[in-house]
Amino acid sequence: MRTQVAIIGAGPSGLLLSQLLDLAGIDSVVLERQSRAHVEGRIRAGVLEDQFQALLRRAGVGARMDAEGQIHDGIAIARGDRSLRIDLAGPTGGRRVCIWGQTELTRDLFAVREARGGAVLDEAADVALHGIGEERPWVTFRRGGVEGRIDCDFIAGCDGFHGVSRRSIASGRLETWERVYPFGWLGVLSETPPVSPELIYAGHARGFALCSMRSAGLSRYYLQVPGGTDPGDWPDARFWDELRARLPEAAAAALVTGPSIEKSVAPLRSFVAGPMRHGRLFLAGDAAHIVPPTGAKGLNLAGSDIHYLSAALIAWYGTGDTEGLEGYSERAMARVWKAQRFSWWMTRLLHRFSEDPPFDRRLQAAEFDFLAGSQAAQAALAENYVGLPY
Ligand code: FAD
Ligand code: DHB
Repeated sequence: MRTQVAIIGAGPSGLLLSQLLDLAGIDSVVLERQSRAHVEGRIRAGVLEDQFQALLRRAGVGARMDAEGQIHDGIAIARGDRSLRIDLAGPTGGRRVCIWGQTELTRDLFAVREARGGAVLDEAADVALHGIGEERPWVTFRRGGVEGRIDCDFIAGCDGFHGVSRRSIASGRLETWERVYPFGWLGVLSETPPVSPELIYAGHARGFALCSMRSAGLSRYYLQVPGGTDPGDWPDARFWDELRARLPEAAAAALVTGPSIEKSVAPLRSFVAGPMRHGRLFLAGDAAHIVPPTGAKGLNLAGSDIHYLSAALIAWYGTGDTEGLEGYSERAMARVWKAQRFSWWMTRLLHRFSEDPPFDRRLQAAEFDFLAGSQAAQAALAENYVGLPY
């Protein structure tokens, strides 16, 4: 089989890239290790920056997001019983985020690829990358017991943190930077009305808590838990009691609880691998970087990578212009590092770091006090939360 761009991974990065290339008349094949049902069922991110919303509209997958997603122009940042409302729209010239689950976005992307006859080969095992330093790379895989081979011009490694693409780069060619946190987030989805119309990011001596949502009748909550926590140790009643204990009093009193319909633990990590281009292989999204989820940046960074990469490939196929491809890594990584900085800052502001000496605890309290008293600091938070320019 021959295509122009072989895309590894059918997460948001890979599917969105294949759709944007298709709209520009460029052929691609997406290879996905899991089944489509598995990918569509994963509960992950929920907050979309306005530029990512615009990119989805351009890709023709914005209709359901616009009809059913919720536009938010503020968030709450709490510490104990103190709560600040951070105005997102005012200091950013009217920019707002949209609450739209990654699950819904992925469903729309799969549906549009199917409707346009796009090749998305799920349950593809043993994907291997070859000749990434050459002009004609190729990919091999096994599907339904049959060996396959795709010859292509470029390979896009959109296969997430545990994928094969980053690991295919010769050792010594890739630099990595990493910080692993000694805690994770325990997430619960429940068919209950959200505790508040806006998200609440709550710092507390017992640990961080986040109140988010998917719709008027579907809530998403998270608790900071020690690394290695088994969700089985957290029956619903324990989860709700702990959440109540970490929220400001008014929110705790308003919390409506019910049975959880999903419960899982995600570890927290900051990770960057670069450069994001090696010959004919381009890394995008979680394959190249992971942020702790506190700033809601993971999915949005996948969006900015695909914005840069799709534009570079479209320019190359259109006019032979190589500038976009050559500058891809530098452009994408500049934005990634700023999102890493912000995600680290939000994580540091709001989580309990049990190993912190008393000095660092006082600094954390001062950071919140400064934010509470400074319009400039609140504007900086808003600017980062709605997303730095592409
Ligand atoms: P992914 O969504 O990881 O997609 C990669 C795809 O590649 C997957 O479908 C995978 O099955 C496939 N793949 C992997 N290996 C291979 C292979 N060898 N061959 C073929 N295919 C392969 N971000 C937030 O902003 N907020 C959150 O609350 C949040 N929660 C998260 C919870 C979890 C458990 C995880 C893992 C991530 C979370 N994120 C969150 C991050 C966000 O979901 C990701 O940044 C986003 O999914 C990145 O999209 P992607 O397409 O680059 O990677
Ligand atoms: C959600 C996840 C986040 O990491 C975040 O910062 C905000 C919202 C969510 O899943 O809704």
